[in-house]
Amino acid sequence: MSTLITNGTVITHAGRQEADVLVEGEKVTALLAPGTAIEGAEAIDAAGKYVVPGGLDVHTHMELPFGGTFASDSFETGTRAAAWGGTTTIIDFAVQAKGQGLMDGYEAWRAKADGNCAIDYGFHVIVGDVNEQSLKEMDIAMGEGVTSFKMFMAYPGVFYSTDGEIFQAMQKASENGATIMMHAENGIAIDVLIAQALARGETDPLYHGVVRKSILEGEATHRAIRLAELAGCPLYIVHLSALEALAEVTNARDDGLNVFAETCPQYLFLSLDDLGNGFEGAKYVCSPPLRDRAEGHQEALWSGLATNDLQVVSTDHCPFCFEDHPELGRQKRLGEGDFSKIPNGLPGVEHRVELVYHGAVAEERLTLERWVEVCATTPARMFGLYPQKGTIAVGSDADIVIFDPAKRHTLSADTHHMRTDYSCYEGLEVSGGVDTVLSRGKLILADNEYLGKKGDGRYLPRDLNQYLV
Ligand code: URP
Ligand code: ZN
Ligand code: ZN
Repeated sequence: MSTLITNGTVITHAGRQEADVLVEGEKVTALLAPGTAIEGAEAIDAAGKYVVPGGLDVHTHMELPFGGTFASDSFETGTRAAAWGGTTTIIDFAVQAKGQGLMDGYEAWRAKADGNCAIDYGFHVIVGDVNEQSLKEMDIAMGEGVTSFKMFMAYPGVFYSTDGEIFQAMQKASENGATIMMHAENGIAIDVLIAQALARGETDPLYHGVVRKSILEGEATHRAIRLAELAGCPLYIVHLSALEALAEVTNARDDGLNVFAETCPQYLFLSLDDLGNGFEGAKYVCSPPLRDRAEGHQEALWSGLATNDLQVVSTDHCPFCFEDHPELGRQKRLGEGDFSKIPNGLPGVEHRVELVYHGAVAEERLTLERWVEVCATTPARMFGLYPQKGTIAVGSDADIVIFDPAKRHTLSADTHHMRTDYSCYEGLEVSGGVDTVLSRGKLILADNEYLGKKGDGRYLPRDLNQYLV
């Protein structure tokens, strides 16, 4: 079975060209001069459109048990929503719970995902219990193609690790080449501020954003960098939201350290104001929190993406319903009367590629090539999947998005495919939109119709970070 994508402009991180793309089986097999006849190939006309690599979202939390409930998207619903938005690979987080083996967490998440995903998927593992055995199991996980491990300086009593525990895991990562991914917020100081705010009667969602100070993200980022430098391991700061944290990453990179960072659409588009509308603000509770626009975080993040001080945009997709759900029960409303009990996380996996295009390319902050790079190529390289994923080249998986720059559409919970009853971007009209999606050569989205099925997605064992200096 072969497909020829004709008349489009192929955009990769490296440049743009008018070319027809030949797909045979699961792979790209040629980039041809426009108009080249290929007998027997099914043609897809991409005239006036961009032909880009499928997006990689390297930070999602399908079905995550968190905050007294579960993230509302299953691997089936969440990966289908991702496909609608032009993402053809996710890397989700398996969780090692306290008292559990690290590989038990990995196996449990494989069991949830295998046979259910619409697109290809890999795993990082959250190291939730550092001990001799779990450190050994980091090596075993590497054998399964898990080459990155997330740790938390936030959420004491849940996922939090002490500096000593973090340092031990970093020493192991330095031995085996893994990347440590860090949720960098000083959770101990934040818990003091939470208790003080609640004692003053400050219970609304707004105070979630007030107590989780940007300086505490900057401090934790600094500490994580210094610990990783000493241990000698690569460090990837997840969901970076604050200019103080960005300054730390920038300095570390200028010093030649293997330090990397991602930000997320919510930090590029939303702000503390969204947390401020009474309990409606619960819809926007995530950690780190949305920042005060007047403090300049948002523009700093956009410039960080332009200068490569930030390398990746992922979503941290971790959705919860606002109203009680018939199967999932109470979600965001668990925190009525106490912001600290609102499950932390936002829906986003469906909108990343389009939102970044809208904010970056349509609003002229970044080039088309850079858009592709932060949404697809760099995530693939960072997590050991390039050039299988993240580009359109001979031999690469035919994960391809045909993107229509002329399309305009309005984001809404009425039309999105994520399993949440609200959209953080309700009513936002975006320029450009996903038109057609192929996953390993199979047409899974065309003419506003989803053509794939659960189980189309395959597990992706990954190599090491491909950026190490
Ligand atoms: O609020 C968030 N970010 N929820 C998901 C868990 C995490 O910290 O990534
Ligand atoms: Zn986190
Ligand atoms: Zn996360």
